[in-house]
This record gives sequence, C-alpha cells and structure tokens, in this order.
Amino acid sequence: MLRALLSAASLLVLSLGAAAETILLSGGHVIDVERGTVMKDHDILIEDGRIKAVGRAGTLGASGVPRIEMKGAFLLPGLSDSHVHLTSRSDLHGYRRLAVSTSRSAISGVANAEKTLRAGFTTVRNLGGPGFADVDLKDAIDSGEVPGPRIIPAGQSIGITGGHCDNNLLPYEDRAIDGGVADGPWAVRQKVRENKKYGAEVIKFCGTGGVLSKGTTIGAQQFTLEEMKAIVDEAHELGLKVAVHAHGAKGIATAIEAGVDSIEHASLITDESIKAAIKKGVFLSMDIYVSDFILGEGEAAGILPESLEKEKIVGQAQRERFQAAVKAGAKIAFGTDAGVYTHGYNARQFAFMVKWGMSPADAIRAATIGNAELFGLAGEIGSLTAGKRADIIAVTGDPLADVRELEDVDFVMKDGAVFFDGFAD
Ligand code: ARG
Repeated sequence: MLRALLSAASLLVLSLGAAAETILLSGGHVIDVERGTVMKDHDILIEDGRIKAVGRAGTLGASGVPRIEMKGAFLLPGLSDSHVHLTSRSDLHGYRRLAVSTSRSAISGVANAEKTLRAGFTTVRNLGGPGFADVDLKDAIDSGEVPGPRIIPAGQSIGITGGHCDNNLLPYEDRAIDGGVADGPWAVRQKVRENKKYGAEVIKFCGTGGVLSKGTTIGAQQFTLEEMKAIVDEAHELGLKVAVHAHGAKGIATAIEAGVDSIEHASLITDESIKAAIKKGVFLSMDIYVSDFILGEGEAAGILPESLEKEKIVGQAQRERFQAAVKAGAKIAFGTDAGVYTHGYNARQFAFMVKWGMSPADAIRAATIGNAELFGLAGEIGSLTAGKRADIIAVTGDPLADVRELEDVDFVMKDGAVFFDGFAD
C-alpha cells in the first residue's frame, strides 16, 4: 500500500517535472532575424516549450538549470516552408503516381516529415494532400507518435474539371477525378467546407494550369473571378487563409483581385500585379529552386515530356520575375514545392533567393518572420524572442555571411524538445 502510494507520488512529481521543464542554450551567437544582426555569446532560457528570456551569457540567473553548450554556434529560429507536399515522393512523377495509394503516400509522409524537421524546418504548410493524408500526418506528429514539423495542412486542393489539381492521366471510361475538383461558385464553397470539415487549416486552389499536370496550359486561368471570390469568401468566413497555385499573368491578377493571401509560384507575374500584391499585402511564394531538379532529374523521375517543355518556359522567367518582385519590395514567402523535388533539401533555395536579388538576411526573414506572418502565427514562431515557441536551430557558420550554412543544420529543437543535436559527442 505504502509502496503504491509512494510510486504514485513520484509519478506525479515526474509528470510535473516534465511539464515545467527548463533548459538553457548557453553561449551561442543568436541571430536577430528582425534586425539581421548577430548577438554574440548569448543565452536562451527555455521553459515549458517556450522562450523565457534571451540575454548576454551568464546574465539570465539560470545557474542551476540544465544546459546545452552552444559556444561558437549560430542560433536562429526554426525555419519554415510555405509550400511542401510531404506525402509526395520526388522519384514518383507522371504515370508512376497512379500506382500510389493514399495509405502508401501517408507512409512516405512519415519519412519525409522526419527529413524535413532534421533539415531545420520546424513549421510547414502542406499545400495539397490527397485523401487528407496530410491531416492525419499532422495528427500523428502532434500526438508525439512520429517526429516531424508543425504542419498547416490544406487537405485536398480545389481545382476545375480537367485542370491542374485534377487527374488527367486516364481515359474517360476510368472516370478519374481528384477529390478537390468542383465547378461553379456553390460547388467550390462546398469544397472549402468539406476541407474544413476534414481538418484543413489553409485552403489551396489552382488558379491556372501547371507544369506537372497533363494537358493544362500555364497561361490559362482556372476558375472565373466569381468562383475565386466564392472560395476566398467562404474560406475567410471560416477563418482559413487562401493560397492559390498560379503561374500565368491573368490567373495571378484575378486571384489577387479575388482576395487571396498568397500566390504560389507567381512565375509570370506582371509589374502591375506586383504592385497590386504589395497594395493588398499578398505574399508571393516563389519556388525558384525546383526548376533545376525538374530539368536535371525530372525525366528519370517520370515527369512527362510536355511538362519538361513547360518548365523550360516557366523556370527562368520565374527567377527573373522573382528578382523584379524583390526589387519592388513585395512580401516574399519562403516556399519550395518540396515533394516535387527531394524532401530535406528545402534550404537549397536560400542560395537561389540570394543569387536573384535578396540579401541573406532578407531570405532568412522570408523563412522565419515572413512566413510566420503569412501563416497567422506571428505571435508564436519566427524569431528568438521571449514568449515564442522554442523552435530553435543551430549551424556552425554565420548564415548572414553565407546563407548556404543553412543547408547543413547541426541542431534542431521544436517546442523546447531537442530533436537532433550534432554537437553532442
Ligand atoms: N507544382 C508546380 C506545377 O506543376 C511545379 C512548378 C515548378 N516549376 C517552377 N518553375 N516553379 O506547376
């Protein structure tokens, strides 16, 4: 009896101890992403999964607190990616995707989520998960069953019959229709409601043709202004933001007019639309690395010849339009479309953003406080400041001097729990 009481008491102490866990990351160089500066030899005190204080080494009054030595390392907020597909594999494109079941894609999602977190990406928006596999993956991660980033899932991407976001690979007798296909204002509202019902936390729709879909045209707008407005109105009413896939100029302009929150790809955006996006505070989430993968390794991965031809038109133009958008002062998100290419290589895009006109500090801002604003999580993630979630990564060199440091992350903490520590022997 006494023993049972004692063990019950120690269990209670243990669980209380776990809840009030305090830890110090000591003596690292802390990057202030807001100002783009390095605060040398600083400590970060973490309590209950959140940042409690940041200050000069030895000044936080944390002498008895368990610590992880960070001397010489550069610490920054966990990175985020505004456009991934965790349940997609980069070696399965075109007709190969037809053989993949939803459950099989969910299993890939488990592996890809871990790779993404290991790469330092602690929050991602999953912009399209057939069968709501992304919602289930999020649930498994949040319950602690498998490791992975915080996921903002979109569920099923909404698209027109026969457009990008439909399955156009099979003949008529197979009646293959993707889950998010709908035509007409009320039908698309129903799809938004359905997505919300099954766990989507952001709405993705396809506002133009795409590169990787069969038989769609980059320049063709998908959905009328009326339909786009219906999607945006319904989503906003339900408290969800809207991300639109759009490459062509007309679809981009119409989507901005309809009130979307981010333009994904934005490849052929005009100067006028850049101005409109700035005026309305719309983020541009331009995946300017992926073209190298598609043109270099796409054929071997099963990408259709017509898609390779489309990519030749879009890839270079997108980088030039990115440069124009940066110069004009547009809000830039950090979004890669990982899943089209290899998960875990998300950070490769930083060097491209710098090559095409951004400072390393601005590129890092896009992947931290910029995305945090787009996700509606500005109070939760995106900077190493008191009160925010303790999503913290570390690298050995200064990423403000060489942004490619972020391609090799040495330490990853999410919500105050260490996921990977390459500094420990
Ligand atoms: N998922 C996109 C599509 O099929 C990929 C576009 C990639 N190309 C690029 N240059 N961003 O349209």
